[in-house]
Amino acid sequence: MSGHGTPVPMTSRPCGPLKGEARVPGDKSISHRSLILGAMAVGTTHITGLLEGDDVLDTARAMRAFGATVTDHGNGEWSVQGVGVGGFAEPDGVIDCGNSGTGVRLIMGTMATSPITVTFTGDASLNSRPMGRVTDPLALFGTQSVGRAGGRLPMTLVGAVDPIPVTYTTPVPSAQVKSAVLLAGLNAPGQTVVIEKEATRDHTERMLAGFGAEITVEDTAEGRKITLTGQPELRPQTIVVPRDPSSAAFPVCAAIITPGSDVLVPNIGLNPTRAGLFTTLQEMGADLTFENMREEGGEPVADLRAKFSPDLHGIAVPPARAASMIDEYPVLSVVASFANGVTDMQGVKELRVKESDRIDAMAKGLRAAGVTVDEGDDWWRVTGMGHGNVAGGVTVASVLDHRIAMAFMVMGMATQKPMTVDDGSPITTSFPIFEGLMGALGAQLVRNNI
Ligand code: S3P
Repeated sequence: MSGHGTPVPMTSRPCGPLKGEARVPGDKSISHRSLILGAMAVGTTHITGLLEGDDVLDTARAMRAFGATVTDHGNGEWSVQGVGVGGFAEPDGVIDCGNSGTGVRLIMGTMATSPITVTFTGDASLNSRPMGRVTDPLALFGTQSVGRAGGRLPMTLVGAVDPIPVTYTTPVPSAQVKSAVLLAGLNAPGQTVVIEKEATRDHTERMLAGFGAEITVEDTAEGRKITLTGQPELRPQTIVVPRDPSSAAFPVCAAIITPGSDVLVPNIGLNPTRAGLFTTLQEMGADLTFENMREEGGEPVADLRAKFSPDLHGIAVPPARAASMIDEYPVLSVVASFANGVTDMQGVKELRVKESDRIDAMAKGLRAAGVTVDEGDDWWRVTGMGHGNVAGGVTVASVLDHRIAMAFMVMGMATQKPMTVDDGSPITTSFPIFEGLMGALGAQLVRNNI
């Protein structure tokens, strides 16, 4: 439950080369899903490499509240003794998902077709985010909901007693919405179908198949069509969570903009629905290579080597790539500030409804640091200043958003003067070892007393 405590201002000073190996934590999306699907299986699921960030810990607590036995064995090893599809008990208290949109939206889907009533809340960031995108399709199953104005948390959902399966075309490119509908479909009889016009991260589909659900995916004229047969008995799994490409983005981008750097980021999942940033960086002229390409657990994996890249150039990022790098635009905009020329990012309206309005948050901080940023409803453009020319020397707001805080900490490694964020505490939601890991590579991050 992040963002509830005292703000922790944090400063990043321009530093020498970043060198060494960056072992980033487990994938956040896969960690949430491991706990949730483990709770819906019959028997004990074993998980290694779980991300022990606040977001995922909140989901672990929620699964316990629904009756699953979730045990922390230390060192990222966890087990979940599930209650089976349809076996969720009604929690005694309110489910607090902290900062996590993924947590709350996936859990809403999971309980929506069970005859229980659940009240959800979160921190100030989560309580300002739209939930209608999930409760609208859940209503088609027969789930009722009542929340604050604009479909905001706190919100109570009354699960459908006799759920009916649905066919739903997602109106926004969102893996959270797709996953909520599929998870609800698990406890509805017959076939639940989700059609997405643009492919979003497909971990839910892959993992449902792994847990033994009957699920098919077809490319059709309308888009990617996923068909799930309801009421399966899910089989417990042994899951090795790969390292998170969205967390890898920070040491990778830091190395690219910091003179003399050479950083290896081992074991990163390169699922095509997640790897758009790395293609974009290569198109910008970054010295980024994939070593030891292999397959693990059905996913492409590689070790990433990122080196200082003095001759970056701006590009137009194809809008079709947006979903595969949606969480990486904040740190991409930092790299773009050190490139020559304009980096144009279109088709990114979803950035406005993340943990913060990420276009607004980054634009404000980048401008304060001396960078020109233009923006519209679903686009923004960063005019790069070339290496060594970005002033920095300002304090910017992290607006309860871990990725905004980390992006500005990366920026301060290569600006002329340090960058400070008013609150670095949200970083623990997804990357609790960020300071130590970056410090070991050579970054100079300090917490400031206020
Ligand atoms: C996630 C989906 C994305 C992403 C989030 C994780 C997931 O959100 O931004 O960090 O695990 O399903 P949207 O579904 O809102 O695009």
